[in-house]
Amino acid sequence: MIEQFTSGTNKLRHLLTLDGLPDKLYLELFERAQSFLDPDSGRARSSDVLRGKLVVNAFFEPSTRTRLSFEIAAGLLGARVVNFDVANSATSKGESVSDTLRVIECLGADQVVIRHGGNLLADLAELESTKVSYINGGDGCHAHPSQALLDVWTVMRERGSLEGLQAAIIGDIRHSRVARSLAVAFTALGAKVCVAGPPNLLPPAAEMALLCMEAAEDVDTAVSGADVVVCLRIQLERITDSNQPQEESYISQYRFDERRLGLAAKDALILHPGPMNREIEITSTVADGPQSCVFKQATNGVAMRMAIMQMLLEH
Ligand code: CP
Repeated sequence: MIEQFTSGTNKLRHLLTLDGLPDKLYLELFERAQSFLDPDSGRARSSDVLRGKLVVNAFFEPSTRTRLSFEIAAGLLGARVVNFDVANSATSKGESVSDTLRVIECLGADQVVIRHGGNLLADLAELESTKVSYINGGDGCHAHPSQALLDVWTVMRERGSLEGLQAAIIGDIRHSRVARSLAVAFTALGAKVCVAGPPNLLPPAAEMALLCMEAAEDVDTAVSGADVVVCLRIQLERITDSNQPQEESYISQYRFDERRLGLAAKDALILHPGPMNREIEITSTVADGPQSCVFKQATNGVAMRMAIMQMLLEH
């Protein structure tokens, strides 16, 4: 069984989940990420803290943002990066994920970013020890820690603090690893989280209570006065046909549009982790409007992922 922290310390050894991440480490990650931003361009700049290290991107599910962002971040830090072609790998011949990870370790990887359709922690539990630092690039409906970290940092950069903010998360919460990690991060940093979505796309009440998510009656209620609105797509790849919402009724009840934007706080920030399905969960007028942080999130993601990889190196 591998542990997130180096034994007896709060030094981050792997980034698997945000559960139990001390507030101090959020702030340290924000500072590190800021230090990687070029003040003139606002984009991540190069450094050599990972020079001589090997980073492997092992993505067992599709990705645009997370995979590219980690690849670019590792390259900016001076690491060699290998993108593992899972579709043509021995996993298609029946090799287990944990054996595949053992092989990647034997080939010399220092850090492995892994996206996984199921439960990453269960596969990592089969590894007794490891020299590699694992970064969860999103596993099943469980966690997407680097996405949540870049999201809360995006809010932090705009607002200076999350303390006392009201965040609304709208859409398919049940199948969203982003919503789960974001709820943990928002709560840890002092924001309140309200959710709204189709009843069959909300997590069970007991889980929502554990995640400090308050369920609103409807989207209008959830977004009224909200300082941050996070829109999520319907994760069709994880939904059985009988649970799929009808597009027309979903749009009328749950889409975040200009009318609903008008209910939020005047300067509310609008986030979407991507990929966006325009005109379904969010309208283009909102996604491309002045309050949208959607593309800032992508830019900030590179510096945040550099910060994560740098912190893991120092375990
Ligand atoms: N937000 C996110 O995880 O996007 P990708 O699936 O493109 O990586």
